[in-house]
Amino acid sequence: MRIEEHFPLENHNTFRLPVKARWFIEYDNEDELLRILRDEYFRECDSIHIGSGSNLLFLNDYNGIILHSTIKGVNIEEETDQAVILRIGAAEIWDDIAAFAISRGWYGAENLSGIPGECGAAAVQNIGAYGVELKDIIQSVEACDRNTCEKHIFSREDCRYSYRYSRFKDESATPYIITHIRIRLSKSPAFTLHYSGLMEQIVARHPGIILPGVRETILSIRKEKLPDPAQYGNAGSFFMNPVITVLHFEALKAAYPNIPSFPADGDMVKKVPAGWLIEQCGFRGASKGGAGVYHKQALILVNLGNASGQDIALLAEDIRTAVYKRFSITLTPEVRYIG
Ligand code: EPU
Repeated sequence: MRIEEHFPLENHNTFRLPVKARWFIEYDNEDELLRILRDEYFRECDSIHIGSGSNLLFLNDYNGIILHSTIKGVNIEEETDQAVILRIGAAEIWDDIAAFAISRGWYGAENLSGIPGECGAAAVQNIGAYGVELKDIIQSVEACDRNTCEKHIFSREDCRYSYRYSRFKDESATPYIITHIRIRLSKSPAFTLHYSGLMEQIVARHPGIILPGVRETILSIRKEKLPDPAQYGNAGSFFMNPVITVLHFEALKAAYPNIPSFPADGDMVKKVPAGWLIEQCGFRGASKGGAGVYHKQALILVNLGNASGQDIALLAEDIRTAVYKRFSITLTPEVRYIG
């Protein structure tokens, strides 16, 4: 176990904000986690659990305890001719798992290639890209209840997954800390290639659709659209894509015939790309203080070099106000604000 006081978090948030935590505690296994959870001082303090900080916006220094897991390990728990089930420690890097699955010829993780972050956080957030969400391959999630210190295994249904949501998302309401996840990968070809333009791009790069080709194509699309965190700190999509009623959508379509949309869960609703709404409001490439809107993808806010968390939050607020004024749509941050 590692315990640090007044700990710099610059390398633990991908916005690279130079904030500090009063305490930073890293545990290596479930027993250590349980010791922490039972500790009286810990129970009195504010605390949050982080992964690699790729979805966090620190508004200030954090005057509490930041918990971080280093539980690693990837084990094949079950294997048949058709499928394999992997049990994975929460601190494993998600993209290492995607790369490993592809190297073994297992299908299911390839569309999620290149998504930053650790496996525990990926399961909290239900990461998704190019027509696939983690929930599509999650088999179960192991988690400790912060209050009772009991261990639970949640089936996929029990995780209550939907778009960028799970029962683990709101730590104050759902006091679980994920220690391991299980994913099920298929041994027979099972591609998901319906996402706009994906199939064309794969075929253009690789004659014949093969697993490494899908990964490579997705990594290059991401490289083209998303900022390199080494150049500009960022947390991927800042807002979720809003889901609006079909009625609302039809009204907008009458005024903006080019408005794009995707199907959402349910016939009465549609998902609209927030990036398009933000771009229409003139924010693509805009900046305020040290914060900016990425010039190639308006859904991504970036640290131009010396942003504070407040700079980023203020720019996000300007965007929300403008989008609401013009489209009567309230954008919800995907990024979690701390402080
Ligand atoms: N668009 C614009 N202008 C922009 C950005 C987007 O007009 O500046 C429009 C275009 O019409 C484009 C459409 O929005 O066709 C969709 O854009 P894109 O394919 O880049 O996807 P997105 O909806 O902006 C979502 C996820 C991403 C994921 C991609 C690919 C959310 C909040 N974001 O972005 O996930 O990689 O689809 O599947 O759902 C993340 O969550 O951090 C993330 C990067």
